[in-house]
Amino acid sequence: MTSGVVVDVRAGRVREIASGLGGLRGALIPILHAVQEEFGYVDQPDVAVIADVLNLSVAEVHGVVTFYKDFRRTAAGRTTVAICQAEACRAVGAVALGEHAKRTTGCEFGETSYDGRITLDEVFCFGNCALGPTVQVGGRLHGRVTPGRLDALLGEAR
Ligand code: FES
Repeated sequence: MTSGVVVDVRAGRVREIASGLGGLRGALIPILHAVQEEFGYVDQPDVAVIADVLNLSVAEVHGVVTFYKDFRRTAAGRTTVAICQAEACRAVGAVALGEHAKRTTGCEFGETSYDGRITLDEVFCFGNCALGPTVQVGGRLHGRVTPGRLDALLGEAR
């Protein structure tokens, strides 16, 4: 009963967001960003509501949500750890660092650890290229991150 009420409240809010931005040119992307901003992710029932408001098919909206890595399909963990995988960071060990992070957390990029503590993401350049490999932990950038330093940062992330 309670979860049905929560779902209805969320659906109502998503409809409000979609209706409010629906008049924009190319409204779908701003609506999806606004929904993610408010709820932390775009849930499957949100897709149906947005499709209804924009008079699009659910498949069309679903296709956009799944195409863009920016859109999260599930709630993020308590701390998001994003590892730069762009060229300059790759040249100084970011690929190996990403593999180390995957082994340590048990996550692929875009996934959350089983305990809900860490969400691991890849990003393509933070603008901190001279100090790579660059990692962002909970919104804070760290440069020249080694596997050992990453382990320490992951340990601090609670
Ligand atoms: S390439 Fe990693 S911060 Fe720019």
